[in-house]
Order: sequence, then structure tokens, then C-alpha cells
Amino acid sequence: MGKLKVGILISGRGSNMAALVEAARDPGFPAEVCCVLANRPDAKGLEFARERGIPAVLVDHKAYPSKAAFEAAVTDELLTHGVDFVCLAGFMRIVSPTFIERWHNRLINIHPSLLPSYKGLHTHERALADGVKLAGCTVHFVRAEMDVGPIVAQAAVPVLAGDTPDSLAARILTAEHHLYPLAVRLIAEGKATVTGEVVEIAPEAADETARLFSAR
Ligand code: GAR
Repeated sequence: MGKLKVGILISGRGSNMAALVEAARDPGFPAEVCCVLANRPDAKGLEFARERGIPAVLVDHKAYPSKAAFEAAVTDELLTHGVDFVCLAGFMRIVSPTFIERWHNRLINIHPSLLPSYKGLHTHERALADGVKLAGCTVHFVRAEMDVGPIVAQAAVPVLAGDTPDSLAARILTAEHHLYPLAVRLIAEGKATVTGEVVEIAPEAADETARLFSAR
């Protein structure tokens, strides 16, 4: 069976993209990164991709008259690079229902909270304000409603005394870098499949999709 051909959409730093690129360097990893696409010219991640010989494409949303035109250009670039599965990795544009339909069940996102808690922005600030004792991250299939969709995998980290939004974000980000490659691997191996509006995990992978990360 061939590898899953992945395109990664970013807007900035791209550390999750980098984690996927690094994971895919292992010849045994069942997915390959065909291109990295950013909607901002200053997205740092583009440089990282280029340095590793991965096609790095800028599709600047400001250069298009409408969201529809921008997203059509994104899809064109993805198809040009042979992509058949899309990972949003810190892509800070809300994607339209048309784009989501075009990539139905072939479009996933990573979000820095344990969904369905803390959809949207400022997840860490809000979690700290609520005094939660576990925080984390989620990889999910994308649906029209923001930060909603069948959940592939989640990782939890403790919230520690004295945490700031930055310290909590850093702890969660470390978990994200493990979780995203895991989720892509399970999907590529056919061990995580959307059934109805839930992701079914193959029994042999069941203990991989819920992860606990230690404090440090
Ligand atoms: C990550 O923490 C990701 O979960 C979050 O943005 C950060 C991107 O970092 N995504 C969202 O908040 C999406 N709603 P990165 O560019 O270093 O991967």
C-alpha cells in the first residue's frame, strides 16, 4: 500500500508541521509530506520546510479578492503537489464549508485543548481561569463548526501550581508534537476511521489514542 500523501497548512511558527516532517523522515512512517503551504509570507515554518527539501508554497490570503478564491488557490496547489490528505497545523484562517466538503474526511486539525472544552482562542488562559487540573490537545477531523469534528486522538497534561498561559502552552505543545504524528500514522494505517461522526480506533491501537504526558 502506498503512503498517504499529506499537505500541511500553516500560518506561523510551524512546530507541529516540523514534528510531522521529522516523523515522516522515518522510512517506516506510512505518510509522506508532499508540501507545506502558508497563507502568510512571514510564516517561519516555510523556511524549515524548504531547508528539508519539501515544496514550501505561499498562498497569501491578502492577494485574493475572496475567501473562495483563496481557498480555490490552496486546493489547486495541494492537488499540484499530489496531496490527498490535509493537516491544519496552526493554520489561523477559518476554512469555509466548501473547502471542508472538498476535503471531507481528508482534513484534520490540531487544537490546544481537550475538546469539546475550550474551543476557539485563548484556550490556556481560559483553562487556568477555570482552575482545571488537566489540560491538553486534540487531533480531530474538521467539520463546518469551528473546533468540532470526530476526534482521532487526545493527550492530557497536568496543570501545575504557578502555571502561566505560556508555561501551560509549552507543556501542551510538547504533547502536540507527539500526538499529531501519532494521529496521522493511525489514519494512514487505516487504524482510525470515521464511522458516523465518531472515529473508530482499531483494537490494537486503542491504548495509543488517549495519552497522558508527565509534567516535565
Ligand atoms: C499550536 O499550539 C496549535 O495547537 C494551535 O496553534 C499552535 C501552532 O503552533 N492551533 C490553534 O490554536 C488552532 N485553533 P505551531 O505553528 O508551532 O504548530
